[in-house]
This record gives sequence, structure tokens and C-alpha cells, in this order.
Amino acid sequence: MTHGPRYTALVDRLPASVPFVGPETAERERGRPFKARIGANESVFGPSPKAIEAMSREASETWKYGDSLSYDLRMALADRLGVGAGNIIVGEGIDGLLGYLVRLVVGEGDKVVTSFGAYPTFNYHVTGFGGELVTVPYRDDHEDPEALIAKAGEVGAKLVYIANPDNPMGTWHDAATIQRMIDAVPDGTLLVLDEAYLEFAPEGAAPAIDPDDARVIRMRTFSKAYGMAGARVGYAIGAEPLITAFNKIRNHFGMARISQAGALAALHDDAWLAQVQGKVSAARDRLAETARENGLTSLPSATNFVAIDCGADGDFARRVLAELVARDIFVRMPFAAPEDRCIRVSVGHPEDMDAFAEALPQALAAARA
Ligand SMILES: Cc1ncc(COP(=O)(O)O)c(C=O)c1O
Repeated sequence: MTHGPRYTALVDRLPASVPFVGPETAERERGRPFKARIGANESVFGPSPKAIEAMSREASETWKYGDSLSYDLRMALADRLGVGAGNIIVGEGIDGLLGYLVRLVVGEGDKVVTSFGAYPTFNYHVTGFGGELVTVPYRDDHEDPEALIAKAGEVGAKLVYIANPDNPMGTWHDAATIQRMIDAVPDGTLLVLDEAYLEFAPEGAAPAIDPDDARVIRMRTFSKAYGMAGARVGYAIGAEPLITAFNKIRNHFGMARISQAGALAALHDDAWLAQVQGKVSAARDRLAETARENGLTSLPSATNFVAIDCGADGDFARRVLAELVARDIFVRMPFAAPEDRCIRVSVGHPEDMDAFAEALPQALAAARA
């Protein structure tokens, strides 16, 4: 008998690689910090001062576990959304909730449909629970609702995923298109509607919430517009039986009480949110202008990032990206063709946007050389 754990057959099969390399890792490897951290769609504008105050106040109470039901936050969200508290589950970011959801419904060999090149953390969870990913391509830089639904029906998928607005392209569909998608979900399939960037989208990107609709679960987060990515607070809205099922498997004390307090205060500061939305919109315009100044185009965005089309293939965009990183600008890019002709630049403070505007022409010249 050899020593050490006997892994499951599934874990033995999984690749040993760590799929997500954060900017801190890159900084350690490079031995110097980035000048502009505009690669992970975080909100440089930070949380509401009221959230910071609430979190500071809660710091001395952190010897206590958080409320396992996230009761106050769930009540406040339910009130805001016009649904019951039983329709809301709070979890460790959308990422954490996606993991729980996949664990709830995906077993070995079950099919899950997503877009080729869409949000990779979802794929990571599906693979990690033994599910089989089936993908459909983007269409004109948008996720393709009709193709996703058709494929889900064809393969008998347990889950079909769409982000609206989308990451990495920043494009979006209107509410009517998403509602048509919900109405067409095949029997036996659950639609995962990831609305991480919804607060940045124009009015009319989200269909009305029907809390009793068992065909869809919607996920939202405090990581983006509320500027609290490091606090790890997300929530899902769905029919009560599905929401209750999370209690069978979730980490009941997974929410830090500092984060719960911060999210609750953030939710009540609409003025701060509006201010952030304004800054994001201005910075998106600035990124589009920088692209234009360099003879490039950018995609209209409903998020806090902009996909800039580098005008050639993925290899060229990867060179541009490497040259930007070499100039201390942290940005990322789509990994699937043909979307990988773009780089993805998160919005930042005017100084971040200046640093990007200064580095881009140099990076383009170096990539062309
Ligand atoms: C589409 C999408 N969903 C979810 C997340 C992660 O959200 P959270 O921080 O709540 O886990 C991101 C973050 O980049 C995202 O782009």
C-alpha cells in the first residue's frame, strides 16, 4: 500500500494546471508592480464609503462567524428585487455559486452547453464535477441565444449558460431576446443567466424577474459595479425549491461577516452606484477614443471593460497584449478565435486610461515590428 490520498478517478483525470493566474502572480514573477491594473474587470472606483465604514465597524466583530443565512442581506435584496427571501441565495461570489449549482445538477458525463470562449470559471466547475462541455460559437461577437438553446435541446443538457452582458466581449442582448431564450429552455434543462455586469448595461437588458420560473437561475454580484470583488459576495435568484437545494451542499459559514455588512451597506448607497456608472461610461468612451486614435475599432460595451479589435489575428493581439504587459499595463484577452483578435481592457481612473493611451501605440508598434 502506498502512502497518500487515493484520489477519485475524476480528480486523477483532471489536468494538474492552475487555470487562473492572477495579477499578483504576474507581479511576483516580473518583480515589479503593474502601473495600471485594468485586466480583471474589477472596479478601481472601489466600494461605497458607507460600505467601507460598515466593514470597518464589523472588523472588531470578526471573531464571530457570519450569519449562516445571510438573513439581513437576503431580506434587503428580496425587498429591492420584489421577490421572496426564499428566492435568494447569497454565496461566495458568482464563482462560488456556479460551483454549488454545478455540484447540484451535474454528474459524471452530464452535458452542459455554453459558448466557445465564454466565461471560463463556469467551465472549470463543470469539468471539476465530471460534466461534459458542449459549445456553440459566438455570432458576430455576441453569445448566440438561439444556438445555445438549440444545442441544449439536441444534447439533453442539464445546464445552458449565458452571460448577459457577456464577458469577454462586453456585448449584450435586450430583455426580449433573453426572455425568448427563457421561454424556449428545453424540459430538463436549467438556464444559468449570469448578470455579473448588469448594472453597467443600458435599461432594458434584463427581462422582469419571475421568481417562480423554474427554468432559469440568475446570478448577480457585488464584485463589479459595487467594487467589492475581494469581499466575495454574490447572489442567485431562482425558484424556491432550487434555492433551497443549495442548503444541502453549500458551505454554511462561507460568508465573511465583514463582507455581509459591506454588501448590505453598499446595496443601500444608490448615489455611489450612480456615480460609478457615470465614471464607467466616461472611461468606456475614453477607451473607444484611444482605440480610434490608433486606427483600431472597439466593440460597444455594456460592461466595465471594452474589447478593442487589434485588426489582425489572435497571434497579433497576443503580441500586443504581451507588449502592454511589458509596459506594466495589466490587460487580458479572449482565448477563442475569432474573438481573440481583440484585447479586453477594463475601465479605470483617468490616470489608468492615460497610462493605457500612452502604452498602446508603443505596444502596437512593437507587435508589428
Ligand atoms: C461573466 C462573469 N461572471 C462571474 C464573474 C465572477 O463574479 P464573482 O466575483 O461574483 O465571483 C465574472 C468576473 O469576472 C464574470 O466576468
